[in-house]
Amino acid sequence: MTKKIILSLILCFTAITISACNNSEQIEPYAFSNADFETGTLSGWDINGDAFRNSSVEFALKDSSGYYFNQQGDFFLFGGYGDRGNLKGYLESELFELRGNGIIGFLIGAGENTELTYVSIIDQKGQEVGRSGNINFNGTNQMSRVEIDVSSHIGEKLRVKIIDEDDTNSEFNYINVDDFIINYQRSISVSKQLKEANEYVASNLDKINSQYRLTYHAMSELNWANDPNGLIWYNGEFHMFYQHNPYASTWGPMHWGHLTSTDLVQWENQPIALAPDQVYDAQFGAFSGTAIEIDGKLYLIYTSSSNNKQQQAIAISSDGIIFEKQPSNPVISSSEVPLGASISDFRDPDVFRIGNYYYVIIGTRMNGYGQLVLYRSIDMVNFEYIGPLMNNSNSSSPNFFQLNGVYECPSFATIDGQQILIVSPQNLEQNGTMFENVHSVVYMIGQLNLETGKFSYDDFHEIDSGFDFYAAQMAELPDGRTIMIAWMQMWDRTLPTQNHQWVGAYTLPRELSIIDGILYQKPIRELENYRSMPYHYENISLTPFQDVILEGVQGKTIELEMEFDVQTAKQVGIELFKGTDHATKVYYDQPSQTVVIDRSNSGIQIFGVENNMNTRSASVSLDGNILKLHIFLDVSSIEVFINDGISTLTANVYPDLEDIGISFYVNGGNAKLLSLNKYTLSIGGS
Ligand code: FRU
Repeated sequence: MTKKIILSLILCFTAITISACNNSEQIEPYAFSNADFETGTLSGWDINGDAFRNSSVEFALKDSSGYYFNQQGDFFLFGGYGDRGNLKGYLESELFELRGNGIIGFLIGAGENTELTYVSIIDQKGQEVGRSGNINFNGTNQMSRVEIDVSSHIGEKLRVKIIDEDDTNSEFNYINVDDFIINYQRSISVSKQLKEANEYVASNLDKINSQYRLTYHAMSELNWANDPNGLIWYNGEFHMFYQHNPYASTWGPMHWGHLTSTDLVQWENQPIALAPDQVYDAQFGAFSGTAIEIDGKLYLIYTSSSNNKQQQAIAISSDGIIFEKQPSNPVISSSEVPLGASISDFRDPDVFRIGNYYYVIIGTRMNGYGQLVLYRSIDMVNFEYIGPLMNNSNSSSPNFFQLNGVYECPSFATIDGQQILIVSPQNLEQNGTMFENVHSVVYMIGQLNLETGKFSYDDFHEIDSGFDFYAAQMAELPDGRTIMIAWMQMWDRTLPTQNHQWVGAYTLPRELSIIDGILYQKPIRELENYRSMPYHYENISLTPFQDVILEGVQGKTIELEMEFDVQTAKQVGIELFKGTDHATKVYYDQPSQTVVIDRSNSGIQIFGVENNMNTRSASVSLDGNILKLHIFLDVSSIEVFINDGISTLTANVYPDLEDIGISFYVNGGNAKLLSLNKYTLSIGGS
């Protein structure tokens, strides 16, 4: 019986539509005889040793767990036939010429030990030029497609060699294979849910009210967006995915939206990368996660959330745009959750590689307390649990973690040779000017023990002291810089843009450094390329009751670099987004030694669960009375970098259209504005 093979179709995205692309060179997929075992025998194959014989070629079988073998056509090679499981041997195909793209695709099942059971591609001299075992082994006989890339041997004469050297007594000590195809073109099926989500976005963009939309910050095109996900430099550009509900401006079934950028300032919308379309993620979708490049491919690891289970799943792409969820998903399932940890709160995997292992940190709640746990894997298919990172599973815990909170969105990096761990613990208790929001983001500098999972650190610090900063993630750029991006919004608040058909934007990417054990954040330097209309002022005296307005210093999409000598002033500050009725204040308060952002009179009022919805402050110690503020305004956002980034304050505000003024003031004494640089920031066309 002939098989139906769709080889010439690759589904490609062009903008948001899906179209078929033709593979122009017509190459017969089967390059040697009986490459698909459809003769029902081993004809064409050279039989060596005892592991295989003609009766190993089987017809449509089911195994004891009810799984079909997933063969193509009627016949396939069942290496476990009869008593042959624990015998050794190998098969060799006829010689064939490698044509096309140099990729050989085939189905493989069983073969638990990939060192002993595998498929080799050998040259005329018998030298191995490529191999693969069953990298998707899932504890069954079921076959799935793997590829061997031997593209450096195109035009050469080769053979396929099927090897079973496993004579142990393990259950899957044999190999099943079928359907050896040369010039293999993966046919990726784009799910109905993914297609519909992209179509929905494309046809509803006109619903957006853009009054408060930001201009030089990353944002979703439409509707709801929360955590940044999968930040990574891949194939010459930066990719940023994000938690996205394309259908409404409220949180809902989670998709992964996708943006790319070559300079981290101008962002390009890409098709939605992940939609809830599998049993394990169908209900609530694809929650937060991270990305890693492995052998030129982009791997996303995310939390699949369905039926009160949060499990970890992987999707892989060869072009950075279209992702295939893996047959081995969920790769960390509910049955692998450590004792005491919650199955329904087990999320936000952060993946990184050290030595031969891929490590994944996952946020959870263990014995009722927030916790992070560490897993490792050599193949991104099978993971083993290592241990908890924090020492906090009892109420006498000396650290910051709270009962009932989940440690969301861990992110691990090494900056300037020091390991840093970022996490977003829910419901952190307020401590002075720290943790004034209902949920916080903290960092710890320490050391991760890869054998026990324990992360040793001395202290934890709040990363941003403003209103709107959550779920921060770090990524390393090719030039060695580590950057961080956070969701510039907060849970449990009113959201003034909800009826504008969008919610959520991302902070500026911030360059990180660690000096004397303290994290410093600086706005990404590429922003300097977008400066225009510079104004510079020096040595302006500030006295009470005399607001200072400077020519050219106004606007809503601007950057201000300032240095103050705070002198005798009780408060010295700046009013931003200022109009007849509104202003947002950023000021230094000398008695409390804090920099405060006050949005009580910014514009649309924001309500939340916190008692104080008016101000947020950062403790700052001044060196010789000098205060440095570096402020970015973007229509409805403010980011304040204090004293070279030792502290930051990030907030959203919703002023009126005409609130573009800026002025300087002091209370209770004098101060001096030593220097001021003002730039307009604009991205062409916006
Ligand atoms: C953090 C978070 C994550 C979760 C995601 C769901 O903001 O709650 O823990 O994966 O949002 O959208």
